[in-house]
Amino acid sequence: MKFGHYDDSAREYVITNPRTPYPWINYLGNEDFFSLTSNTSGGYTFYKDAKFRRLTRYRYNNVPVDNGGKYFYINDNGDVWNPGWKPTQTPLDSYSCRHGMSYSVFTGERNGLRAEVTQFIPLKTWAEVLRVKLKNTSNAPKKFKFFSFIEWCLWNAEDDMQNLQRNFSTGEVEVVGSTIYHKTEFKERRNHYAFYNVNAPIQGFDTDRDQWKGLYNNFDRPDAVFEGKPRNSEAHGWSPCASHYFEIELAPGEEKVLVFTLGYIEVDKDNKWESKSIINKKPALELMARFDTNEKVDAELKKLSDYWSNLLSTIEVKTGDERIDRSVNIWNQYQCMVTFNMSRSASFFETGIGRGMGFRDSNQDLIGFVHQVPERARERIIDIASTQFEDGSAYHQYQPLTKRGNHAVGGNFNDDPLWLILSTTDYIKESGDYSILDEMVPYDNDASKATSHFEHLRRSFMHTVNNLGPHGLPLIGRADWNDCLNLNCFSSEPNESFQTTNNQMGRTAESLMIAGQFVLYGNEYIKLCKQIGKHEEAAVAQTHVDNMVAAVKAHGWDGEWFLRAYDFYGKKIGSNENEEGKIFIESQGFCGMAGIGLEEGLVKKAMDSVKEHLDCEYGIVLNQPAFTKYYIEYGEISTYPAGYKENAGIFCHNNPWIMIAETLIGDGDRAFDYWAKITPAFLQDISDLHKVEPYVYAQMIAGKDAYKPGEAKNSWLTGTAAWNFAAITQYILGVKPDYTGLAVNPCIPKAWDGFAFTRKFRGATYNITVKNPNHVSKGVKSLTVNGAAVTGFVIPTQAAGSVVDVQVVMG
Ligand code: GLC
Ligand code: GLC
Repeated sequence: MKFGHYDDSAREYVITNPRTPYPWINYLGNEDFFSLTSNTSGGYTFYKDAKFRRLTRYRYNNVPVDNGGKYFYINDNGDVWNPGWKPTQTPLDSYSCRHGMSYSVFTGERNGLRAEVTQFIPLKTWAEVLRVKLKNTSNAPKKFKFFSFIEWCLWNAEDDMQNLQRNFSTGEVEVVGSTIYHKTEFKERRNHYAFYNVNAPIQGFDTDRDQWKGLYNNFDRPDAVFEGKPRNSEAHGWSPCASHYFEIELAPGEEKVLVFTLGYIEVDKDNKWESKSIINKKPALELMARFDTNEKVDAELKKLSDYWSNLLSTIEVKTGDERIDRSVNIWNQYQCMVTFNMSRSASFFETGIGRGMGFRDSNQDLIGFVHQVPERARERIIDIASTQFEDGSAYHQYQPLTKRGNHAVGGNFNDDPLWLILSTTDYIKESGDYSILDEMVPYDNDASKATSHFEHLRRSFMHTVNNLGPHGLPLIGRADWNDCLNLNCFSSEPNESFQTTNNQMGRTAESLMIAGQFVLYGNEYIKLCKQIGKHEEAAVAQTHVDNMVAAVKAHGWDGEWFLRAYDFYGKKIGSNENEEGKIFIESQGFCGMAGIGLEEGLVKKAMDSVKEHLDCEYGIVLNQPAFTKYYIEYGEISTYPAGYKENAGIFCHNNPWIMIAETLIGDGDRAFDYWAKITPAFLQDISDLHKVEPYVYAQMIAGKDAYKPGEAKNSWLTGTAAWNFAAITQYILGVKPDYTGLAVNPCIPKAWDGFAFTRKFRGATYNITVKNPNHVSKGVKSLTVNGAAVTGFVIPTQAAGSVVDVQVVMG
């Protein structure tokens, strides 16, 4: 069953039934200031860090689901409803939620009154705007009462939930005119406050949640709203909120527009007060003034729309299948921006207090983002590298606010360092900017230990070389990409975290996934060294890579596929000899993409084994057979019920590795089939099974061993976004930046006649037409650039500003 539809020309997903199988959300804001909103107005707002600077409160895992948000209530002569349906759930005559590029529009209509709420964060602004249009669509005059509502979070979202003995006494507000200021802890160590303003005189307000709502009521029955009487309450401790009250009359056909602004202000330490206990409001008033008319709001919405038009014009495809086009041109790129911004911190599955920016996650997210805003990608790469240790290892996570490594989580995930080579080389290929390599970058944020960024890459590469096990394969450490393959953990204590608990840290457990990763990104490192004239370094690195290839062939091949690992005792994992977990996806993906044993047919064989053992109706599962008991020597992977998460779930992040490996051996039909299986635009019709948003990838879809195969969880923040974007654009459609130009080497289903691909690259626009008259999957027979033939498949970089016609004939 469907709950809405795509509107591609508006770049929106339009939800027309509020009872989606799970809250379907959107993200507002692109830099510094962010907000999450569900299709029924649930969600919250934060500045930079969802843990340390949360403006509004949200309760995860609550009953009912998704309670708390930016609400508006209408009391139309005793009939109370919300434009976004929740919290009252009063049936609406019509409802829609349009999720667009960094904005959402809610429209509800009931008994001749239409309310439209447009919610967005203007570019480069630390404020969220909620524009409300109220229109009398009936033939009679309308008189009704209107309330806004948000609940403040006392800044630190974790402390806010826990430290109640303190927090119930600290809340402070100020109300001036139509603005409610939230100033908890401002008088001591915080130099920031928040406000909620509306651009018209109000007839009442509330700032104490329980006086407004009634202590025993939920958000669906606030006393003030149902009685049509604000309390004009002033919060002292307990739970501060912000609610504005209006009495409104509309003639038939008349419309009234109100603009609400939820803002965040940082003030200079020495300039915090206007007078004793009265906060300095000057910067707040300036911020409000930017959005105090409907015209100003329209202008900001236009800027936001232009911003996205420009971003999305970098890559645009026309394949003849609207599902592919909307994925590539709109939603996949949008999700890549969101994962770049959030890493794994804040979604409806990530609470914003658990995980900051992941070292491996953020590096991988860059491969789907670098073409959008290369300058921001560059800054991110430097931030990540700054948390690296001197031996090349890395903090697993860092906090976005402080940009410092997270001690509580620590390091020793031995795949982490190698991802830095991927992100940096992708950045240079996209931008042509080699200067990043000379940038002086600290270790563990200590500037006195800075070296060039190139040296960081060298240490990343050498970290693997310096940490090899008995078979000459990379030691796994706490885990590799698979956080749940904890081969040194041996945990029997339920209160321990598998990832962070004290490990035995033996030097025996080895990872074939890291081996493949080392060969793949080691080769990238070698290519980079040659590119910048470091030929000796390239030769040294080549020896290490060759040794790894030899080690994989000697100790990493199981006969029909690549092994997954050697455990603490030196026993095989992912072998036909095992009872469960005979074959795993990650090592097939990475050894496959690295082309290890390509000539001998190992990659082909491994891919056939994936098809035979791991593929299912909804995607490729992680391992088979699923684990049915706890293997203490394997760790968390064997704790999940069969078919979920890292235990034989379809962990979408790794499916593109197989797609890419398939393109290496030229099987475009299989590569595309795998892509389409997990791509949300192809799953819209099974939304009630799939459950989460049909416009973004989810981290996991339940696998064939699960209770409900095909049911997805953990949408939005997943490496799936960036990897699938790479798989479809760079390997299947085959347009990939390289140091000297733009490579065009598609690997598509044989049945396709071709496609068109527009790519902006280093300032030039390439209009590429690919024709496939002989119905092959792979092979470029001819390539012309502005009519002139080029040998090979790399279009040499063209002058910035030029528009280039590229004709490719496959065969
Ligand atoms: C999660 C983590 C990612 C990890 C993956 C597999 O998505 O964010 O770092 O690689 O799980 O365990
Ligand atoms: C859990 C999750 C895994 C995630 C990890 C992050 O193990 O299953 O997906 O990567 O936590 O800490």
